[in-house]
Amino acid sequence: MLFLLALAVPFFILLFSVLHQHGVHRAGPPGPWPLPLIGNLHLLNHSSLHRCLWQLSLLHGPLMSLQLGLRPALVISSAKVAEKALKHCDLEFSNRPSMFGPSKISYGCSDIGFAPYGDHWRKVRRITMPHLFTAKKVRSFRAVREQEVARTIQGIIATSVRRGGMVNIGETVLPLALSIICRIAFGRDYAEEVNGRELLREVQAALGGLFLRDYFGWLGGLVDRLREATWNLERVFEEMDAFYEKMIEEHRQNQRHRHQRRVRKLPEEEEEEDTIDVLLGDGNLTVEQVKAVLMDLIIGGTDTNSATLEWAMTALMKNPRVMVAAQQEMRALLQNKGRDWHNGMVNEDDLDSLPYLKAVVKEALRLYPPAPLLIPRETVQVRGKTVIDGYEIRPKTMVYVNAWAIGRDPDVWGEDAEEFLPERFLTKGLDRNEFGFLAFGAGRRKCPGMDMGIGIVELALANMLYRFDWELPEGVREEDIDVNVQPGITMHRKTELFLVARECTL
Ligand code: HEM
Repeated sequence: MLFLLALAVPFFILLFSVLHQHGVHRAGPPGPWPLPLIGNLHLLNHSSLHRCLWQLSLLHGPLMSLQLGLRPALVISSAKVAEKALKHCDLEFSNRPSMFGPSKISYGCSDIGFAPYGDHWRKVRRITMPHLFTAKKVRSFRAVREQEVARTIQGIIATSVRRGGMVNIGETVLPLALSIICRIAFGRDYAEEVNGRELLREVQAALGGLFLRDYFGWLGGLVDRLREATWNLERVFEEMDAFYEKMIEEHRQNQRHRHQRRVRKLPEEEEEEDTIDVLLGDGNLTVEQVKAVLMDLIIGGTDTNSATLEWAMTALMKNPRVMVAAQQEMRALLQNKGRDWHNGMVNEDDLDSLPYLKAVVKEALRLYPPAPLLIPRETVQVRGKTVIDGYEIRPKTMVYVNAWAIGRDPDVWGEDAEEFLPERFLTKGLDRNEFGFLAFGAGRRKCPGMDMGIGIVELALANMLYRFDWELPEGVREEDIDVNVQPGITMHRKTELFLVARECTL
């Protein structure tokens, strides 16, 4: 006790003097009254931050100021304000704050997603764009998506036979997303070589963890050093690093073999370069920067897709009417095409004729955006003052755009905003680019993997609904389905979603 007191007294004296220098006073948009030292930190519930920020915004408005220790922050919770910030002041809102967890995992923000806005960000986006994200490139990976979805369907059949129909949806869809991203970006399927689900869970816990240095500078850092969260972060970082090392080493060996074949004038097999080859071959990136981009692709590309699929299945099980309507749409289409039922798959050409399925995916993304607060932004000084709704927004303010709350904004979605109604995307013509729908963010930091992500989710969901009828385990009712979430940048279900799959025979 005495030891703790001895630590705490100098800590608070130092903290007070630092805060005093920084002058804790808030101008700008309204917000809850800050306490000395900690500001509004005591109001935040990190296990469901988007929900907690939304509740505060109901009291203080859709443009709300917070003081988080030393850090001024802003929370945007309506489509109108989001449009003003991310469209009219896109450049001013295009930076990312440096936070301890993300910075560690991304080798000091050397990736794309956590990188500050500037030359490095432009460079890595420019290198990766033509190899992964253009519409043509996304189309060219069609065979990979179809093969991996077919493999997953066979996996569900095998699992459900073994376990009396019972399928763990998260356990099924994460390897699917990981295999697709690995084959597309890294040249082969590494999914079986890591416990991807466990590792990504730990990464999310580390990213969602509360680190005092983010709010109290170096003083907080002193305390963090003694905390388990920091040791966990270190351990997860080492595990991820070993995985990238393995992939990079394998690619270097392949490059050496290719080079030797060329020197000895042996016939060169048609081998296209994958993203790792391109990043290593660029010559302007350090190995750590290459690893940081691999992290983006694994976490950004895998976790989000699997979370979307899991939430879409959750929403469908809670809304059996929608499930039946989606299944009828695709079963009728494939029957009309005379497709053989047992071996038949919904393929990517079929997707264009399935507007209801597409609306189901959008509706799931609206109500359960996998990154409910996007990736936090930070304001920068561009020219003159940044003013929104008459309030001056100062540079270096951390910004949370609450996509989860905006997806429920009654001004855009009406009084039934909380209901899962895919029909709204068929009738209102509201498409995913409007500021009421921010599952992929907006402006220059918008997700570059949107088309790839939607392509994976639509194809996987279509086949899961086409081949199986899904039931809740005995004794579980629709209203019992848990929608609580785990902390982290990506929003995952807190509990596993177990469903019973019955292979459908029309
Ligand atoms: C359903 C699937 C996906 C969802 C919902 C999603 C969502 C998001 C969101 C909300 C952001 C932050 C945008 C902002 O701050 O405005 C983002 C950024 C990003 N996403 Fe995605 N994403 C998905 C799929 C993917 C895929 C498949 C990849 C790559 C393989 C990917 C790579 C990235 C990258 C690199 C960024 C950082 C962009 C930047 O800061 O410039 N995402 N994503």
